[in-house]
Amino acid sequence: MAAKGLFITLEGGEGVGKTTGMDYLEQYLLEQGVDLIVTREPGGTRFGERVRNLLLEVQQESMDDMAELLLIFAARAQHLREVIEPALEKGRWVLCDRFTDATYAYQCGGRGIDPAAVSLLETLVQGALRPNATILFDAPVSVGMARAKDRGELDRFERESNNFFDAVRENYLARAAQDGERFRVIDASQPLATVKESLETVAVQIVEAARSRGAL
Ligand code: TMP
Repeated sequence: MAAKGLFITLEGGEGVGKTTGMDYLEQYLLEQGVDLIVTREPGGTRFGERVRNLLLEVQQESMDDMAELLLIFAARAQHLREVIEPALEKGRWVLCDRFTDATYAYQCGGRGIDPAAVSLLETLVQGALRPNATILFDAPVSVGMARAKDRGELDRFERESNNFFDAVRENYLARAAQDGERFRVIDASQPLATVKESLETVAVQIVEAARSRGAL
């Protein structure tokens, strides 16, 4: 039976350059002969993309925090069954723009939901599946928000306060500090060329670790 693929997630606050990082990492992994798919959350399926629209569009009425959390996990369940799990089973690598660390950061750190609630849903929806490696793009909130504003119209999350994003960032950094095996933190406030160098170092480590375990 083929070895299971690697599940790699990219995380970070708003405007930290995740998309550029994803493109770069995808290119690097393809050059190394990795068979991979690239996907994102919320989204990744037709159902998930509809849920994403619900979550990101600016609405007249406010969305209840628990309703938001359950929508995120509804999209995640569909994404796992339809896309992520089948790919990993076939030995393909999955490169995913955000996953459950974002839920801890935004819904617990930002919204104040009890992490025990997220942990319950995580087990219910994912079973034992967790990312093999997570790359966290970290930058001060002021830097990220300035970039996000440059991109144009702000979505429902991007309209949150700086306090909200400070709490998101702190939560991400605390999780990364607790799980240094899985997380690699990249200082995304550096010039693009330096960020790419850091990303390449991380990518090389991930590929070498996979080769030494026979997973590539
Ligand atoms: P992005 O495509 O810019 O990453 O936008 C996705 C937004 O959704 C971002 O503001 C973070 C938010 N989000 C959550 O609040 N919780 C989650 O679990 C995920 C995956 C995303």
